[in-house]
Amino acid sequence: MSKHDAELRKKVETEIQKHKQIVEADTYRQNFHHMPPVGLMNDPNGFIQWKGVYHLFYQWMPFETAHGAKYWGHYTSEDLVNWKHEAVALTPSDWYDKDGVYSGSAIVHDDQLHLFYTGNIEGEHEPEAEYQCLAVSQDGIHFEKKGVLIETPKGYTGHFRDPKVWKNGDQWYMVVGAQTEDKQGKAVLFRSEDLQNWEHIGPIAGSKEGKLGEFGYMWECPDLFELDGADVLMVCPQGLEADGMDYANTYQSGYFVGKWDETAETFQHGDFRELDRGFEFYAPQTTRDEKGRRLLVGWMGVPDQYEQAHPTVENGWVHCLTIPRELKWNGERIIQTPVPELAHMRGPVLMHSSITIENDQKAVRGVQGRSVELNLDFESLEDMFAIELFQYASLSYKDRVVTLSRPHLEDRSKTEFRRVKLDEGLRNLRLFIDQSSLEIFINGGEEVFTSRIYPQAEEEHILFTSLGSTTFSVEKWDLKGYE
Ligand code: FRU
Repeated sequence: MSKHDAELRKKVETEIQKHKQIVEADTYRQNFHHMPPVGLMNDPNGFIQWKGVYHLFYQWMPFETAHGAKYWGHYTSEDLVNWKHEAVALTPSDWYDKDGVYSGSAIVHDDQLHLFYTGNIEGEHEPEAEYQCLAVSQDGIHFEKKGVLIETPKGYTGHFRDPKVWKNGDQWYMVVGAQTEDKQGKAVLFRSEDLQNWEHIGPIAGSKEGKLGEFGYMWECPDLFELDGADVLMVCPQGLEADGMDYANTYQSGYFVGKWDETAETFQHGDFRELDRGFEFYAPQTTRDEKGRRLLVGWMGVPDQYEQAHPTVENGWVHCLTIPRELKWNGERIIQTPVPELAHMRGPVLMHSSITIENDQKAVRGVQGRSVELNLDFESLEDMFAIELFQYASLSYKDRVVTLSRPHLEDRSKTEFRRVKLDEGLRNLRLFIDQSSLEIFINGGEEVFTSRIYPQAEEEHILFTSLGSTTFSVEKWDLKGYE
């Protein structure tokens, strides 16, 4: 550890201690979601299971609730339920990462954990340079930086980051998010035999590549993986225009499904589909765990989307991550479901079957709370059905459209909403509610809405509204968090 690295670590520790009481007393403090001890959290990084332990790193600015010279924070868990906040994994202590140890991924090789990340060097308005770097660890806690592996090839701007590495046969591959000099977003491929020397192959997908027209001026956080026989490229394009119910957030997060041809090193793909329909979801990362499952964690935030309007900013912290989800490909779309381990957070079940509400608004006995899971199965739904949460957010369904609305974060006198159309109607809703967040899985995870919510502190009421008649069953569990 260099002297500068040691100093930065000490500064982080002091900052945590300084704000600990205030952050821990915040009524919006999450119960079971990863949040920063202080400062700003963004992308999940280096998500991996190694020797039974899940490592989940994250982009962290400990000294401000704004973006800046990022660190890698680090959580570990053996069961995806109980998490421990570890020492900072990486600090921006070297010439090649002095303005940020930016996003990246993890692999295991030769019994060592390898972290690939982007070293950011800021220019006046934009990154001046971004280097793909490596750090390794024997114990999964202490990391030794190995320096720069890749400098940005010709033809790209300073926006060149977020390496995701995987193995294909004997070869290692890396995909990086990039911007060309003519401002097109791309996913750029590299190949290596030894993880040290990387050959630049070129873009495998991007704006104006193949049949894709203009599709964003920058692509962030690419992730290429196989899922139930399909090849998936997840990516976060920036610069898409809102289009009806689609692309409603400032930046998008979604995927292309296609065929990765390992001989030709090409990726043929279909259309882009959004992963999430809520107000806050971005920069997801996946890993294949030791059970062979494809797991995803996302950031519950969107860059440049009124980030300072989150009320937790007053208490010195902002943003969190999503719950871990398992991905499946059903031949048509990616299905996301909360990992089954989360059932260990549950208290006893409360169940009501065949509740009918007709042209009325009702509470259902015992169905309330701010750290709860709800599961609703619909037997019949005539016209309109809605769930009002905490006199704050509302989730409604009418004419096959699901709408989530909440007071506008920047101007509470206005309402903002996000929508999606369900071609086959509404059958099931599963909600994970934490103190200041909401994750809604629709029809077993065909569509998901991920959002922060900021109701009054003590407000726990949930109301159900129906126009015409709706019959449904509801199960409810209180969820305990982790220390
Ligand atoms: C995405 C992102 C990444 C970058 C990181 C910096 O939210 O902008 O592209 O590596 O955040 O924190």
